[in-house]
Amino acid sequence: MTLFLIGLGLGDEKDITVKGLEVVKQADVVYLEHYTSILGVDKAKLEKFYGREVILADRELVEQHAEEQLVKLAKHKNVALLVVGDPFGATTHTDLVLRAKAAGAKVEIVHNASILNAVGVVGLELYKYGATTSIPFWEPGFEPETPYDAIKENKARGLHTLCLLDIKVKEPSKEDLQRGVSTPRPPRFMTVTQALESLLAIEQRRREGVLGPETLVVGVARIGQHDQRIIAGTIAELLKTDFSKPLHSLIVPGTLHHVEEEALEQWRRG
Ligand SMILES: C[S@@+](CC[C@H](N)C(=O)[O-])C[C@H]1O[C@@H](n2cnc3c(N)ncnc32)[C@H](O)[C@@H]1O
Repeated sequence: MTLFLIGLGLGDEKDITVKGLEVVKQADVVYLEHYTSILGVDKAKLEKFYGREVILADRELVEQHAEEQLVKLAKHKNVALLVVGDPFGATTHTDLVLRAKAAGAKVEIVHNASILNAVGVVGLELYKYGATTSIPFWEPGFEPETPYDAIKENKARGLHTLCLLDIKVKEPSKEDLQRGVSTPRPPRFMTVTQALESLLAIEQRRREGVLGPETLVVGVARIGQHDQRIIAGTIAELLKTDFSKPLHSLIVPGTLHHVEEEALEQWRRG
């Protein structure tokens, strides 16, 4: 029996591959990992299209209870874990595969599109991206400058930077549960505006001239969905732009080839 990790792609319930759908239809149990990314449709729509019940798997289940739940189950049942995008678009799942194999479970992967390659639609050469970085929500005592450093290092080598933006899916804490509050707090998704504000705040501190209001950036939202949005402009311009519903990402271009410059023109406004 097997643990299947199945990529769902980026759009809606119909982006699953034929191979992925066959596994889902035959699996004994189907989980949906829903804390590293989201689709443009909800669980009910997936269940209707797949004709299967889908169980939501939160971070705690995948990261802390994988051994007792997913891995143990996969020893005598076919378990499908659905992942938005590609299963390896998030590091969490490499860890899960390693632990499942170590516990003697069979693992199979069904790939799909990820934000890491779909971002090619913007027109910046995928081969010319440097390290991808994540911009987290700041909290008291937690204001990391790693995204700024990644952009700085990539820029120095003429490379583009893909910035993935934080998703905070809050499960009720132990204290909440003790107080009888069991409903999860609503999830928070970082916007392009919040990401730019955070980068500008770091620039204010560091003053290394990595970026400023006149820097050209590209904001993207809901790539692969029917209402995807791509806008290229200066940071000052994009700070005033509403990209609407999640998920958002930000790209800071490096040195531009003339074809890349031409590609960005199609996303400029005005
Ligand atoms: C940890 S990554 C998830 C990777 C996912 N497994 C994949 O392969 O695409 C989540 C972040 O990627 C970005 N992202 C994912 N899907 C996106 C989309 N369709 N449009 C824009 N950004 C997206 C967002 O910044 C989001 O917070």
